[in-house]
Formats: sequence, structure tokens, C-alpha cells
Amino acid sequence: MGQYLIYLDAAKDIAQEAGTLLREYFFKAGEIFFKGEVNLVTEADTAAQDLIFRRLSKSFPGHDFLAEEGLKELSGSEFRWVFDPLDGTTNFAHRFPVFSVSLGLEQRKKSVCGVVFNPMSGEMFWAERGEGAYLNGQKIAVSKIDDLNKSLVATGFPYDIRETQTNMIHHDHFLLRTQGVRRCGSAALDLCFVACGRFDGFWEMKLNPWDTAAGAVIVEEAGGRITDFQGRPVDIYHPEVLATNGLLHRAMLDVLNAK
Ligand code: IPD
Ligand code: CA
Ligand code: CA
Repeated sequence: MGQYLIYLDAAKDIAQEAGTLLREYFFKAGEIFFKGEVNLVTEADTAAQDLIFRRLSKSFPGHDFLAEEGLKELSGSEFRWVFDPLDGTTNFAHRFPVFSVSLGLEQRKKSVCGVVFNPMSGEMFWAERGEGAYLNGQKIAVSKIDDLNKSLVATGFPYDIRETQTNMIHHDHFLLRTQGVRRCGSAALDLCFVACGRFDGFWEMKLNPWDTAAGAVIVEEAGGRITDFQGRPVDIYHPEVLATNGLLHRAMLDVLNAK
């Protein structure tokens, strides 16, 4: 049991509570707002964010907070919670039951624990730095696939895809070099699926810190590797993310950097 256990336990309880709230919204018609042509925000995103912020700031007054729906309380604390109250809003709004609550904690800019919970499947992933990664209490590890031809990989697309067409070329390259490319619609879950070996790799080009904060530590604690497209150590404030089982990292970097 590690030094961050009190934070991890609190994050698990709060993710569970927020997940229960999201399930309630999922089963009743909620209001959908549009942030952009394809970027949605539902009542549920803001309600879950309010709940998480209320609970975390009560348990840990003085900590900093950064979350997707406009929450930025940065006073210079060494601890910063970086969270996405609902990762997978488009799925949620279309009643596709793949989305998550993602809660990450940084200490002096270093991710120290993460929790990702899918309230529809009941799967909770978590990790604490130095203590391994878990799915519902069972230790998890990345896959052992070392040949891209035998791999299943995943990606996601940014909301400005219609203007930028970002990532379509990488998508096509991987489609021709792997056994398949999946697009789940929740980057936090994609990272956890790498951590537990369902996916052998995942890349995305325009992620935000709240998408990666929890999943990055979960991947690393499961024995995986997570970097940018140059192979530099993960920085959740940098938009490019490549997470793999480690064995495929070089091969995936090569595809991403192919001319
Ligand atoms: C999105 C999801 C999606 C990814 C997008 C994210 P949101 O987050 O993680 O899988 O492809 O880039 O913005 O908006 O549903 O919280
Ligand atoms: Ca997100
Ligand atoms: Ca979100």
C-alpha cells in the first residue's frame, strides 16, 4: 500500500458516485448543448463535474483542480486533480454505453494516481505510482504481442476533424498494418484497455490533460509505455499521445512518423 492510498480511495469512491449520477442521466432524457458543430456537452457533464469538485475539495481543501467544463482552480498547491467528469460525451448523448469518469492526481506535475470508471459496465481501473494497476481489484498487465500484424490498436479523432481532417492518414496506415483499429469514443477507456491488454496500442493527436491524466499512470503501472509521437516521455499537457504494451512502441512510432 502506497503513500497515495488516501487519495486513491477517495477518488474511487467519488468516481463511483459520479458514475451513479451519470447512469441516472443516461436512462432519462437529458438536455444536450453544443460546444461546436460536433462537440456536445450534456447536463450530465456539468452535474458530474460539480459533484466531483464538491467532494474532492471538501476532502482535500487547498488542492488544485483542473477539469474539462471550465474548472480551473490553480493556487500553486503541489497536488492537482485533473479530471474529466464524462469522457465519451458523444457516446453518452447517443445512448451508446461506452463512457467513463476519469480522475487523475498530480504531485508537482507528476501523475501519482488515476481512476477510470465505466458506470455502464461496472469496470473500475486504478493505479497508484509504484503499486501496480488494477481492474476491479485484479492486477492487470499489458499484452505481449510484439508483431504489429497481430495487434489490435485504437485511436480517436478530435472535434475539429471536419476542418483539419487530423488523424485520417494515420488511421488508414494502421488499418493496413494491424488486425484492426477501434474507435471507442473515450480516450480514458482506450488507455485502460491498453493497460489490461485488450488493445496493444492507442494513439491520439489532440487530447487534453483531463483525457490522459488518469490513464497515463494506469498504462505505466501495467507495464506499458506512453510518450508523444517523438518518443518523449508522456506529458499530459501535450496533445499527442502514444500508449503501447512497450513491445510495439518503436513500430507504432515508425508508422506515425512515416512520410
Ligand atoms: C473525447 C473522447 C474521445 C476522443 C476525443 C475526446 P469527451 O472526450 O475522449 O474518445 O477521441 O478527442 O475529446 O469530449 O467525450 O470528454
Ligand atoms: Ca474527454
Ligand atoms: Ca468530457
